[in-house]
Amino acid sequence: MNFLFELIKQRRSIRKFLPQAVEPEKVDVLIKSVLMAPTSKNSKSWQFVVVDDTALLQQLAVSRPMGSTLIANAPLAIVVLADPSQSDAWLEDASIASAFLQLQVESLGLGSCWVQVARRPHNDEVTAEQYIRGLLQIPDTMNMVNVIAIGYKNEERRPYDETKLPYDKIHRNKF
Ligand SMILES: Cc1cc2nc3c(=O)[nH]c(=O)nc-3n(C[C@H](O)[C@H](O)[C@H](O)COP(=O)(O)O)c2cc1C
Repeated sequence: MNFLFELIKQRRSIRKFLPQAVEPEKVDVLIKSVLMAPTSKNSKSWQFVVVDDTALLQQLAVSRPMGSTLIANAPLAIVVLADPSQSDAWLEDASIASAFLQLQVESLGLGSCWVQVARRPHNDEVTAEQYIRGLLQIPDTMNMVNVIAIGYKNEERRPYDETKLPYDKIHRNKF
């Protein structure tokens, strides 16, 4: 099978990371990869905040009551933002860039996990988006989609098994 297929099979969400930092050369490849993701009308409506400051990572880890705690042991996180004034397809643009990022992460021998931010609460009064906006000084004009936690894997996850895929989701010619 081809390289990309094997990569897609192998990529699983990784929630435990080694303390080891991600080398700047690898961060550079990640940055270049998201900036080559396709966007509606080539609007490039996304923006990214690369976070490697330990104190900020700890604070990002408490963005949500539960689903974000894994960021605490990641040496790197990339916050994916999009400007709705630049494209009505901002969510699609940002999501595609996130998927490109997660696959590139895997190909560099690293692991990642998507931490949902959009439409998730921080607590009863504040959304996760508002909390992160304050923490990282993100302008009000930007929408926030997720935080991708990245690092060297400290857990083993089984690759997808081709024989067990939900083939019933596939329809041919008619639903
Ligand atoms: C839109 C989206 C939101 C997600 N949000 C979270 C999250 O907030 N926290 C988390 O630990 N995993 C999150 N995940 C990871 C999913 O749980 C994971 O992709 C799914 O269980 C399939 O597992 P796999 O990634 O190992 O194939 C999210 C994934 C997607 C695509």
